[in-house]
Amino acid sequence: MTAQPQRPAFGTVLTSHMAVAQYQNDEWSPSEIKPVAPLEISPAAHVLHYASTCFEGFKAFRRADGSVHVFRMDRHIERLRQSARQLVLPVPDAKQLGDMVRAVIQRCRDAVPEAPGALYLRPILIGTTANIGAAATPSTEATLLVLASPVWDYFAGGMKPLRILIDDVNTRSAAQMGMVKTGGNYAAALGPTLAARAKYQIDQVLFCPGGQVQETGAANFFLIAKGELLTRSLDPSFLHGVTRDSLLQIGRDLGYTATERPFEVKEMLEWVSTGEAALSGTAAVLAGVGTLIYNGKEHRVGDGGVGPLTRALREQLVAVQQGEQPDRHGWLERVV
Ligand SMILES: Cc1ncc(COP(=O)(O)O)c(C=O)c1O
Repeated sequence: MTAQPQRPAFGTVLTSHMAVAQYQNDEWSPSEIKPVAPLEISPAAHVLHYASTCFEGFKAFRRADGSVHVFRMDRHIERLRQSARQLVLPVPDAKQLGDMVRAVIQRCRDAVPEAPGALYLRPILIGTTANIGAAATPSTEATLLVLASPVWDYFAGGMKPLRILIDDVNTRSAAQMGMVKTGGNYAAALGPTLAARAKYQIDQVLFCPGGQVQETGAANFFLIAKGELLTRSLDPSFLHGVTRDSLLQIGRDLGYTATERPFEVKEMLEWVSTGEAALSGTAAVLAGVGTLIYNGKEHRVGDGGVGPLTRALREQLVAVQQGEQPDRHGWLERVV
């Protein structure tokens, strides 16, 4: 076996350039491509005090012929616009933001790693109005950035089954903010996740307030069995993952019955005695769960390893993303 080169951790490297646009006087400025450099914002900027910020994360893939294709960008742009609305931030123009992403990919085309690596795109919107007395006043000025980061094989060290703690007390976010991709939600989930990690040596916490299965700190949750997929139906309490949507579609294409409905911890524990469980998100696509810990007791998921259905579904979606399977749903756009 050839040794894997040591790669930087996910998200720790940025490309040389980013796209920037400003919102002022009720309009967006034309966007510019600039070298990545520290931002100059007022210490009174709304975002620094009142957390008026949201972001996105999605990937572009290089093919063997050198072309680069971005995956479901329109969905991610719509989710950022919805987050901005919910946070009462100036809403980015969808066409302008799409052009900013394309411009960054084109400028940084040489930095897009080969498959199974990808270029991870990170649009971020922040409220910049300088006013420390604006707790109940929206930011009327904003900065929109598009950063890019080369990322490599998420499972370079092999796919390890995850240990997940079931927390049926805490919520990941305020009920109406779950579907908003905003920094405050991640800050809120961090404390419970780190505390649980220290106590139970877990990878992630699965938030199940009131016994209803929701999601982890940064991924959606799936139950999988032969010919069956189950995930929570959409409501404002959790992030509407684009990977979740793509896996449901791929599952249906493969003849699975893909069900979206609320379900409880009890049903989940019954399911995993024979079935599989997995986390879905842009970074890992689909990551198998090996153990669920509930009320101090460990529940093995299937045989405790990453299940074959989880692997197969992941491979199928990755094959579409990398252009090895037909793009039946028009999810990819060629940018380079
Ligand atoms: C809280 C949360 N849930 C779910 C997801 C999965 O979303 P997506 O599949 O769009 O990456 C993410 C990742 O962005 C997330 O941060």
